[in-house]
Amino acid sequence: MKRFLVAYTSRTGSTEGVAKRMAKVLKSEGFRCDVVDLLSTRRKDWPSPADYGGVILGSMVRMGKWDGRLRRYIDLHRNELNGPDLTLGVFSCSATAIGEPEKATREYGEGLPKQAGLRPDACRAFAGAIDLSSQSRLGLFMKGFMKAAAEDMRKEHGVDIRDGEMNDFRNWDDIEALARELGNMAAGKK
Ligand SMILES: Cc1cc2nc3c(=O)[nH]c(=O)nc-3n(C[C@H](O)[C@H](O)[C@H](O)COP(=O)(O)O)c2cc1C
Repeated sequence: MKRFLVAYTSRTGSTEGVAKRMAKVLKSEGFRCDVVDLLSTRRKDWPSPADYGGVILGSMVRMGKWDGRLRRYIDLHRNELNGPDLTLGVFSCSATAIGEPEKATREYGEGLPKQAGLRPDACRAFAGAIDLSSQSRLGLFMKGFMKAAAEDMRKEHGVDIRDGEMNDFRNWDDIEALARELGNMAAGKK
């Protein structure tokens, strides 16, 4: 049985939710699947891609970049991740993908993996979530930053982001479809 690794970084939980949903889909298709949070897992405990038939990497985007821990993981394992026998999927969660999906695909979905020297079998830029609720994990400063960004998105792209609420734009059909696509690819490889 092929094994999958889903390794992710997430600050406010939306990327984590995507990673876990993809793992759930893969498990339901009969794959064994490990899910690793690269922020809370000590570096010495990070699994090697060499132990897996498929790897899915995911990160939120902040200031146009993936989290440094995901970039570190890629630096440590670039050769294995690009190996011919491994199925590699990469996704980003961002605010840009909510109102400007083509730009997000270009800059994050395709641009960030390329910049990192990855050659994924499939890559996506998913719309994430903007949590302006009282339970938000965003600190006061970051919340203020996101409120200003939300106001710009409302004016420029007509996106409705509500203050005081969890604004979740994740498209679960697209997310599950990527998991199934990667599962099918991995099943077809030796
Ligand atoms: C400080 C900060 C910077 C951000 N920078 C960007 C950015 O450059 N581009 C973008 O599209 N989204 C940006 N976002 C939005 C996040 O990528 C989005 O909310 C994502 O879903 C967060 O994922 P997480 O919940 O897993 O942390 C930023 C969010 C914060 C809080």
